[in-house]
Amino acid sequence: MLSDQEFITMSIDLNLFFLRIMKEHSLFLQLAFTPKDSALGEEAAGFRAAFENLLAQATELAHGTVSQAAVESRQITTPYTVEAENLTSFYTGVPINTSLTQQQNMLRPYSRPVRAGLAREVEILNRRAYQLTGALAEFKERLLANVRACRMFTMNYPLLIEHILREARFFMNMLVTLVNRENPMTAEGLINQETFWNRIMAEHSKFIAGLLDPSEETLIDTARNFGKQFDALTAQALQAARQTASIAQVTAQSREETMKLRDFKEAGANGILECKIESIIIPLLADHVLREANHYLCVLGTCNLQE
Ligand SMILES: [Fe+2]
Repeated sequence: MLSDQEFITMSIDLNLFFLRIMKEHSLFLQLAFTPKDSALGEEAAGFRAAFENLLAQATELAHGTVSQAAVESRQITTPYTVEAENLTSFYTGVPINTSLTQQQNMLRPYSRPVRAGLAREVEILNRRAYQLTGALAEFKERLLANVRACRMFTMNYPLLIEHILREARFFMNMLVTLVNRENPMTAEGLINQETFWNRIMAEHSKFIAGLLDPSEETLIDTARNFGKQFDALTAQALQAARQTASIAQVTAQSREETMKLRDFKEAGANGILECKIESIIIPLLADHVLREANHYLCVLGTCNLQE
């Protein structure tokens, strides 16, 4: 059973990370529709605005409640986020609220006594996040079904739509765990998260390989190798979940490989922002996958990247 303080901090950390992820998924969906599906583009834009609104509420509640670990891990924003947002706006003409990002860059953990009613406000935030993410998940499901049945076309890979749908469901499950005041970081919870995130890391590697310009052969090879490593780590985490492999060993190997992938993603984000890598990777997507690696490292116990 989580205390009020634990419930508040875990909820705020989770929302700051995932509401931004969901807001960006909405943008990636919005940008990939063809002119024929402009109505769907508007629907995605509506989700983006709604998630931004909730993210602003979460940010208000985060002063004095966010954990030091979440801030240090660069999972909420990275030093590249604002620049990636600006370049994405420049390329696409879609305005992005960078002042919210700047506000989040200023978030500092400090302990403030839990004021009366805060746990209730955070619970309301969790419930709103659950509802909105549920609606976005339905939208993603509908798109995926239509794309898979060749009833429509979008510039997003079907696996990318499936991937972001899985992330939405994972966020919803985490919210349920917290609202039930259960700790998601038990040994069982951790191994489930490792199974989930290793698969996510494998898919990121495959997306990167597939979105780089075909001339970027070395980077494509590296990305493909990461894909294979993380497929193997996903299988190992599944074995650990069935208690046929050592959890500690899977955790250590996942951490080591995620650090390497994180560095690769950071170099990629830099290269894209500096116009040194040719690709069809949206700059904000490069920063988005970097943040997810940072989040996962923090789950694995390495929140401070300077360590
Ligand atoms: Fe992802």
